Amino acid sequence: MDSSEIREKFISFYKEKGHHLVPSVSLIPENDPTLLFVNSGMFPLVPFLLGEKHPKGKRLVNFQRSFRSDDIEEIGNKRHTTFFEMLGNWSLGDYFKEEQLSWWFEFLFEVIKIDPERIYQTVYLGDESISKDNESISILKKIYRKYGIDALEGPETSGKGEDGPGVKIDFSKEKIFAYKDKNWWQRGDAIGELGGPDSETFYETDKKHDPSFGEFCHLNCDCGRFIEIGNSVFMQYQKSEDGWHEIKNKNVDFGGGLERIAMAKENLESVFETDLFKLIISEIEEMSNKRYRDDIKSFEVIADHIKAATFIVGDEKGVVPSNKHQGYFVRRLVRRAIRYAREIGIDSDNWMSRVASKVIEIYKDNYPELEKNKEFIKEELEKEGKIFNKTLERGIKEFNKLRDKREISAKDAAFLHQSYGFPIEMIQELAQERGQNLDKKGFIEENEKHKRLSRTASAGVFKGGLVDSSEKTKKLHTATHLLLKALRDVLGDQVFQKGSNINPERLRFDFSFDRKMTEEEINKVEEIVNRKIREGLPIIRREMDLNEALKSGALASFGERYPDKVIVYAIDSFSKEICHGPHVSNTSELGNFKIIKEEASSSGVRRIKAKLE
Ligand code: ALA
Repeated sequence: MDSSEIREKFISFYKEKGHHLVPSVSLIPENDPTLLFVNSGMFPLVPFLLGEKHPKGKRLVNFQRSFRSDDIEEIGNKRHTTFFEMLGNWSLGDYFKEEQLSWWFEFLFEVIKIDPERIYQTVYLGDESISKDNESISILKKIYRKYGIDALEGPETSGKGEDGPGVKIDFSKEKIFAYKDKNWWQRGDAIGELGGPDSETFYETDKKHDPSFGEFCHLNCDCGRFIEIGNSVFMQYQKSEDGWHEIKNKNVDFGGGLERIAMAKENLESVFETDLFKLIISEIEEMSNKRYRDDIKSFEVIADHIKAATFIVGDEKGVVPSNKHQGYFVRRLVRRAIRYAREIGIDSDNWMSRVASKVIEIYKDNYPELEKNKEFIKEELEKEGKIFNKTLERGIKEFNKLRDKREISAKDAAFLHQSYGFPIEMIQELAQERGQNLDKKGFIEENEKHKRLSRTASAGVFKGGLVDSSEKTKKLHTATHLLLKALRDVLGDQVFQKGSNINPERLRFDFSFDRKMTEEEINKVEEIVNRKIREGLPIIRREMDLNEALKSGALASFGERYPDKVIVYAIDSFSKEICHGPHVSNTSELGNFKIIKEEASSSGVRRIKAKLE
């Protein structure tokens, strides 16, 4: 059974249980200032998990492309990837623990036929305010019994959980384990985030415990014997200034990594052996004349990073390598991949295009935008490759100036690294070749300082949260709708939304238009928006079929895929857009609208920044 079949079977299994399929959304988030990339399947559902009514009902299912940049350094252990697909199902205040856990196990054991003996489960141990999840434990025991297994609860793990309970576990009998921190899930730390206790599913591979990771193995041990394949979050809390508060809905948010489920299904050792990577790995083997098993880390970095870059550049809202925001991550991915490609002897001009072609071949049926943007993807990757090579050449020139020194100091190394993007491993190699020492420890300290500084800088860019800012962002969101309509009135109907990002301080709006706006046009747009604010127009929310919505003239943002039932927000008879909200109820709440900046964003796309005063 290959991954396409698992994906299809998951969707049809949950459809049979009354779920509706919601489309996979772009990797680049709309309207959310707290997140650079969609990093889980629940992203497009946040408003609905908070209680907004979903037009498709209370049971939803999807597969969602996701990217986690914090996994970059983890690549190389056979089970981590930065890009992955998440299979997800949701209950929006409908069914809860009993159905969730029973159905998921039914899917695993009866639909894709994974051996129940190899499946283990964790639950939440509880803390000062939330009690231990005994309910899930008794449900799980009942389910295991149905499949002929007398599952016992094993020893508990408090605290962070990396070290496990610190005693020997009898995995032949003990199947269920309570952890504390490991079994609390939240997407991020911002005020307004949703979270809750969760229950994770682990698959036991054929691997034996590796004692270098600790004397006793446990489910969350990093040795790789157990691999997490799915997570049922009982999402019923929201973060506010003074901690977590229960929300009205008892939601279920389930997510399972398709790559890992496919690995478990075939009882493989690595996600890189599944059909989602096979073609890519063999292409790299052919180009390098080496085998995957000879240099696992290099192969995994190259395969993962070029796959992720292909998806980000080829997205409907494609992002190209740059020094800012999402573009910075594409740059990092490509440069890191190039570095590892050199390690295994690949440096032809078009090697990234060859890998990207394989990625597209694997995914094009489910992600047609990749095929459509194929040439663009290849061009951008090659272009970045050329820029990086130039950077390296310049770096080497700088390095040559240090030829006469006996030691490369921490400051020198940090300068080469930060100003020329010169990878520390290359500095080390070159120093070694030339018989020079490198103050690596000092460099690491220096670099940490630099990273802390740049983290602080980017935290500034993305500060804010969903709720803390809810009134401010809500207002700016409504202003965004007024702005789009005003732009179309002034510039013409060729103007469509290409992207939106709102934080409490300002809105940022990208739209299709091929030249700079004149001052007169900018003034006119401002005037129209302010007039509509003064008129005190009501905002009306309606649910309708997608076709009906489009026929009624509701605007859809460019390149978005919509479900067949949608929400339409109308600002009286002035503007009408397909949108999830939230919005204020009357434009009179907005205050004065001011455009701060109009500039180019990319070719054929302009960007406006504006605020409300
Ligand atoms: N949202 C949950 C996760 O990402 C399911 O693990």
